[in-house]
Amino acid sequence: MLIVANWKAYVEELPKAKKLFAASKRLARATGITIVLAPPAPFLGALAANNKSKVSFSAQDVSVTTGGAKTGEATAQIYAAAGATYAIIGHSERRALGETNAVIAEKLAHALAHGLTPILCVGEQERDGEGRYLAYVREELTLALEPLTAKERSQIIVAYEPLWAIGKTAADAIESNDLAEMTLYIRKVLAELLPGKSSRHSFVLYGGSVEPGNIRALAADSGVEGFLIGHATVDPLMFSTLVKQLA
Ligand code: PGA
Repeated sequence: MLIVANWKAYVEELPKAKKLFAASKRLARATGITIVLAPPAPFLGALAANNKSKVSFSAQDVSVTTGGAKTGEATAQIYAAAGATYAIIGHSERRALGETNAVIAEKLAHALAHGLTPILCVGEQERDGEGRYLAYVREELTLALEPLTAKERSQIIVAYEPLWAIGKTAADAIESNDLAEMTLYIRKVLAELLPGKSSRHSFVLYGGSVEPGNIRALAADSGVEGFLIGHATVDPLMFSTLVKQLA
């Protein structure tokens, strides 16, 4: 199982970031769970420098630009040089700022070109009774992946994060039977978009109010390979409890 801890802008002090990293190393050693931390950009380099632990690092986003006169941008190459090996791309909080599927496709290509494994976020705003959310997620996957080569497509991790479930509590998250259905659906779409049988090896994660109280039920029989988790990863007690729930 893979846990990607999306610290968003919750962690604003380096000592707190260091403490969370130290706890993650202990948890990874004790449980064998693969932990990937996505700290705010300026802390990533400080934490990942000389990292020899089992814990890996992810960018929370990468720039759509490549290097040069681009004030304020952090490119995929910069993240890779700082020690990241993953990049979250297309998070709904970035899409809300105007990021389009076309931009997301470019970011995926930049991340892959610099050896970062992209974690592509998709998910509907609301769940209607007619199943329109399925077409919405299909379109997000298709528009993001179609511009990429077959080889690039097969290197992407998909994180299903329905917007209605993000940043709330376990009671508001998706039910495990609905997640199982969605995971199957995403795999079906990936099978259409990826070459040959490569979609069988794709990782699908779930994100949206994963907490110690629901992680076990969501992991059981839902077909996901892991979770992209926000607020529960910046509370040390919640984080260690939820990692241990998976072990
Ligand atoms: P949450 O955030 O766990 O706080 O709902 C998940 C995410 O947005 O990646």
